[in-house]
Amino acid sequence: MQALNILVMHGPNLNLLGKREPEHYGVQNLADINAALVALGESLDCAITSFQSNHEGELVEQVHQAADKVDGIVINPAAYTHTSVALRDALLGCHIPFVEVHLSNIHRREEFRHRSLLADIATGIVAGFGADSYTLALRGLCAHLRAQQTV
Ligand code: DQA
Repeated sequence: MQALNILVMHGPNLNLLGKREPEHYGVQNLADINAALVALGESLDCAITSFQSNHEGELVEQVHQAADKVDGIVINPAAYTHTSVALRDALLGCHIPFVEVHLSNIHRREEFRHRSLLADIATGIVAGFGADSYTLALRGLCAHLRAQQTV
């Protein structure tokens, strides 16, 4: 079984996790979430690299740099979920399978959060399980990529 390289991307304001609206986003901070993903990655034979930015262009650049280097992306695009054509185009252009993640269930919240510009091009979506959304997404993405390896 070949090791997988997975990039975990976090969009704007997710650096504030732990202090930011805990009723929506829980009490775990980003370092806790990244550490849980690295630990899970070890058991799934996945190398995890993580990246957070508050800037749309930096997220786009990171996707470009990941092309041909990573097997898949777990991404919480945060507010850019609802607005970013640029991020959508980067993910489409680089052909990297990705899972869209949200800590909160965006469909139970304000109407403007119901629309995702990435959902229809994602391999899968996980939302509403707090920090566990990320680990569920990593499990799902790895299973998907492993299934591709065997065909
Ligand atoms: C979020 C949901 C988005 O609507 C919001 O802008 C975020 C976080 C989530 O993880 O629940 O910043 O992506």
